[in-house]
Amino acid sequence: MNAASPHTLPEQTVVTHLEIEPSILYFGTPVVLLTTENPDGSFNLAPISSAWALGQTVVMGLGLDGQTASNLGSRPDLVISLPAPAQWPAVERLAPLTGRNPVPSGKPKGCRFEPDKFAAAGVTGEPSHLVRPPRVAGCPIQLEARAERVRPDLFEDFLIVEAVVCKVHADSRIVVPGTDHIDPAAWSPLIYNFRHYFGLGPELGHSYRTQTPRTFEGPAALTDTVPS
Ligand SMILES: Cc1cc2nc3c(=O)[nH]c(=O)nc-3n(C[C@H](O)[C@H](O)[C@H](O)COP(=O)(O)O)c2cc1C
Repeated sequence: MNAASPHTLPEQTVVTHLEIEPSILYFGTPVVLLTTENPDGSFNLAPISSAWALGQTVVMGLGLDGQTASNLGSRPDLVISLPAPAQWPAVERLAPLTGRNPVPSGKPKGCRFEPDKFAAAGVTGEPSHLVRPPRVAGCPIQLEARAERVRPDLFEDFLIVEAVVCKVHADSRIVVPGTDHIDPAAWSPLIYNFRHYFGLGPELGHSYRTQTPRTFEGPAALTDTVPS
């Protein structure tokens, strides 16, 4: 059993840092499901976790040899669906699949071609309003978007995609009634944390800029164990 939970790191008077060389730096980012349009008009679905939002733009990092990258190079419409933590098995069913045929040699061992990833994942599509690719039904947040800038990264291993969101769909259960705000207490992203799936832990506090304030004061944060 893993003894230390992230909220209760073992107390130490002197905290030591080790110099390590991890093979991956997936330090815990939300999983999103990207729907894109294939050349034959069918739709591809792929999980990614290299995604972050700034204003109305979502920036994503995609492997150059994937079908998603290929699709976005020529057909910029996409949907970014955000699954809830309980949906992680559907995400993991998609993990060894590619919409690319034949499977590129750079894909991990065991990766196989799948033309109908919706069926393979056990999810269904629902029509979007402004773009052609469908949303993933059941995902609490769905963002219709258009890839406005698509370019290779510095080492030409990945595609950096800047997608501008044109419509947001949110499950009514995670929206603060009568507002346009997502209730952070009702919504949890699915976090990909060094190749393991997590939801959020208990709330620790909120930013001074929150638009959904509560009187709640959370437990002491990790900073208590870090020397000043
Ligand atoms: C949770 C999770 C996160 C992933 N994150 C990324 C990512 O950020 N970028 C990426 O290119 N691939 C990522 N992948 C791998 C792709 O899903 C995988 O390469 C898939 O074959 C892509 O499908 P496609 O070739 O049909 O586009 C992730 C996979 C999983 C399961």
